[in-house]
Amino acid sequence: MPTIIEPFRIKVVEPIALPSRSAREGYLIEADYNLFALPADRVTFDLLTDSGTAAMSAAQWGAMMIGDESYAGSRSFRRFHDVVRDLTGFRHIIPTHQGRAAERILFQLCVKGDSIVPSNNHFDTTRANIEYNGGEALDLVVEEAADTGSELPFKGNIDLGRLEDLCRARRDRIPLGMLTITNNTGGGQPASLENIRGCARILRAHGIPFILDACRFAENAYFIKLREPGQSARPVAEIAREIFRLADGCTLSGKKDGLVNMGGFLALNDDGMAARARNLLILTEGFPTYGGCTARDLEAFAVGLREVLDETYLEYRLATVRYLADGLGLAGIPTVRPPGGHAVFIDARRLLPHIPSHQFPGQALACELYLSGGIRSCEIGSVMFGKEEGGRFVPPRQDLVRLALPRRAYTQSHVDRIIEICAEVAGRAQDLRGMEMTYVPPFLRHFTARFRPLGGPGAESSRGGRGSGASL
Ligand code: F0G
Repeated sequence: MPTIIEPFRIKVVEPIALPSRSAREGYLIEADYNLFALPADRVTFDLLTDSGTAAMSAAQWGAMMIGDESYAGSRSFRRFHDVVRDLTGFRHIIPTHQGRAAERILFQLCVKGDSIVPSNNHFDTTRANIEYNGGEALDLVVEEAADTGSELPFKGNIDLGRLEDLCRARRDRIPLGMLTITNNTGGGQPASLENIRGCARILRAHGIPFILDACRFAENAYFIKLREPGQSARPVAEIAREIFRLADGCTLSGKKDGLVNMGGFLALNDDGMAARARNLLILTEGFPTYGGCTARDLEAFAVGLREVLDETYLEYRLATVRYLADGLGLAGIPTVRPPGGHAVFIDARRLLPHIPSHQFPGQALACELYLSGGIRSCEIGSVMFGKEEGGRFVPPRQDLVRLALPRRAYTQSHVDRIIEICAEVAGRAQDLRGMEMTYVPPFLRHFTARFRPLGGPGAESSRGGRGSGASL
């Protein structure tokens, strides 16, 4: 098969930092072993997130120049509105500064003390916004998703049987049902069209609004085209359109498949709900024709939503992620299989079986990847989702480390080097030691928690006592 190439050439470049190993050791201590606390100019490969980190196209930068920054009724809003309406079909399009602002408004409107909001998996901000309003964020992803090694095509599916049972037993407590596409928390796995249709059918039958968390809708739609029987001949744009038309609304962070650095929206079909949402929007985000965005953000967002459905781009995008996952696989590193759309998730629990969950194996691995090669990754496991209940630590289902790939930002040689660094760390996995949280924030704790390495050879290594072998 011919090599799948980056379907663009590079017009603007930005240098990346190449700090030495000893500099990185000092930086990590200064950051209290929390990679969110690292200044970005101390990071070589920034795989913390694919959110807001895309390289924009020349067309997007060009569109920014024609942004109409009028407070009310700007031309840019109209253009943005028309693109989103055409894509999603939703009646009301309410721009917000990013995805979580849309979530906050939505849940403030309809979640209260006894509410239950089912989804395949809620992402952290979604969960936090539901819980902040007193509700329960219930994950109903299919059982097969727990086996990170199985090669099933749609491990982001929601368990339709459990959803149906929940709706029957607790209808009065469910203000809305959600589905995250692709399923970030569960490894960037897609939901199938059949599953999305099933979810819509069940929720509709019970009169429950169906709201998509559609940040990575294009990657999910492309997986459907690649993997779902009967879908291969359809344009991805058509699949995406069908997905949105199965739902009653969506929250969408443009920082992912919108290919922008800032922006999001809440879209709804219900007139009354939309009116109430706009009132909340005005309180904190701004007038409904700009929400939390500048007009130039909206212009770039509108162009990005079209570019992301270019199948040459999507082919390259998913090939990059697969290339990284396959490289790690060859080095014997267990990852969530098959690879998802935006990131490769290393199964830290399997790579580091000697580190128990309450000692944060994912965090230990993430720190070591930074020390060894300047990679910034993100723990998605016991730091993010672990809980203390009655003095006991309750671990989440998985301890993952996410290597998220910013869109259009890194080349194949970057990915080759990332694979080398990961392989070197995995080669001495048994030397890594766990971590202890020295500051535990009340919620969204991964952002500001502080850590220290526990004793043993791993701690020595984390302080630089043991050689890594890898340098840049
Ligand atoms: N939903 C999902 C599935 C997400 O992945 C995110 C953000 C959000 C909602 C919130 O959007 O950041 O624009 O407010 N995920 C980022 C990440 C932060 O790194 O995965 P936001």
